Amino acid sequence: MRNAATLLFLIFMVSYRLMTRLSLKDKQHSPLKIGHRGAAGYCPENTFASFKKAVDLGVDYLEIDVQMTKDGELVVIHDSTVNRTTNGKGKVRDLTLKEIQNLDAGSWFHSKFAGEKIPSLAEFFDEFAGKIGILLELKKPSLYPQIVEKTVEELLNRNLTSGENHIIIQSFDRGSLKRFHELLPSIPIGVLVKNSGVNIISNKDLRSFASYVSYVNPKITMVNKRLIKRIHQHGLKTIIWTAKKKNEVNTLKNLHVEGIITDFPDLC
Ligand code: G3P
Ligand code: CA
Repeated sequence: MRNAATLLFLIFMVSYRLMTRLSLKDKQHSPLKIGHRGAAGYCPENTFASFKKAVDLGVDYLEIDVQMTKDGELVVIHDSTVNRTTNGKGKVRDLTLKEIQNLDAGSWFHSKFAGEKIPSLAEFFDEFAGKIGILLELKKPSLYPQIVEKTVEELLNRNLTSGENHIIIQSFDRGSLKRFHELLPSIPIGVLVKNSGVNIISNKDLRSFASYVSYVNPKITMVNKRLIKRIHQHGLKTIIWTAKKKNEVNTLKNLHVEGIITDFPDLC
């Protein structure tokens, strides 16, 4: 009886180890599924409704855009004005956090999202940090003195600096990324690239990127097999933005990119 129980236990353990290994292997072969501004195809971007929808659709990471208010608070919004995505008007940097959070950030998308707010980065971290990966874009950091330092401080205060929290910082602004890397080298960095043209990311660029970034993240229109190969040959990874169609997702998967940013996470 005791032998039978031991045997059953051993069979269970071996099966469990095999299943775990297989699922890890599968994961290694499929790119990270990253929800663009949450699930921006289905919900008002960069709101809790959008982030929750993306989580429901099984994303590995949430992509967010971070800017700074007049009173120095970090907020999650894509544009440098509130005009497009709220019922208000004005620049983010000219409004206080209180003024920004009095705006309706949902109705512009659909009346059923009325009352959605622009989240502060603190609120976003309270809800999602440590539970799901975060791809945090520093949006136009040149507009906001100290935004790099404030973001670093927020991460340090929350003890979110180790790899197990799955946080990646990205930006088009290379100077800000270098500064970030100097201050917090344990957090992986991605450089966003959007110009088109065959040789727009030169090998010299890639060698320079390799000194401070882990990811080179081109716009989808720039992507071809050769570019992905060159990025990989320089020891770098790549996350592509922004896939909106199934055939784009399939092409990117075949190219073995490390991550796909999409407005429609159920396409991945
Ligand atoms: O994450 C990359 C992508 O989001 C950059 O473009 O304009 O959507 O922030 P944008
Ligand atoms: Ca973005």
